[in-house]
Amino acid sequence: MADASLPLLIVFGAGGHGRVVADAALASGAWRAVVATDRDPAQWNAELLPGVPVLPLDAVAALPAPLALHIAIGTNAYRRAEAARLRDLAPLASVIHPHASVAVTARIGVGCLLTAQCVVGPLARLGAGVIVNHGAVVDHDCDVDAWAHIAPGARLGGAVRVGEAALVGAGSTVLRNLSIGAEATLGAGAVALCDLPPAQSWAGVPASRLATASA
Ligand SMILES: CC(C)(COP(=O)(O)OP(=O)(O)OC[C@H]1O[C@@H](n2cnc3c(N)ncnc32)[C@H](O)[C@@H]1OP(=O)(O)O)[C@@H](O)C(=O)NCCC(=O)NCCS
Repeated sequence: MADASLPLLIVFGAGGHGRVVADAALASGAWRAVVATDRDPAQWNAELLPGVPVLPLDAVAALPAPLALHIAIGTNAYRRAEAARLRDLAPLASVIHPHASVAVTARIGVGCLLTAQCVVGPLARLGAGVIVNHGAVVDHDCDVDAWAHIAPGARLGGAVRVGEAALVGAGSTVLRNLSIGAEATLGAGAVALCDLPPAQSWAGVPASRLATASA
């Protein structure tokens, strides 16, 4: 029986990423209960996971306090926009899977997601809404700005800086001391050997700019 004084977690986003968030939240035992909501009514009246109902937004807003909110939908920029739109619903909460390895000296912002088998090293800093996905490594002294996503299996060497809402793609590697610019994308499997300017897409080994890419 969960402690009635714990907050109830609202997962905003009833898709695959929402399932990852709900799974980590259930495993953590940090919540009185976990419910999901979505802007798409087609997602209501279903369970996100067993025991995690998907309810309309007005129904979750009427649930008894204390409430907490985690944004689990869409791209990094969309997550940031939804967090601003929903700021009166409940405070943003970080969800940390019990199998995440987080250094005691790491600083974790509000609304972050740390999934199973990820590593956040000593003196690393994560801004609000950062995702460190399954098996990703954010090594010592890294500085990751708000709403960035370190995708599954990506590896940041020591003291890497990642700008706001950047995507470090699945299985990629960023060598130590480099910078990934705000809203930049490093493609899946890439190896970054130099800084990436903001808002550009780079991919490959070694990574180079994608002239034809959409970003
Ligand atoms: C790099 C990326 C952003 C490019 O996406 P896009 O802008 O839609 O680009 P396109 O798919 O049109 O591909 C453009 C070119 O880049 C190549 N390319 C795309 N992704 C690549 C990658 N990861 N590595 C090497 N080359 C890649 C394509 O083959 C294509 O080459 P061509 O012009 O010679 O045909 C995307 O493929 C990617 O890797 N995203 C990361 C996904 C990810 O890890 N998400 C996290 C999920 S949890």
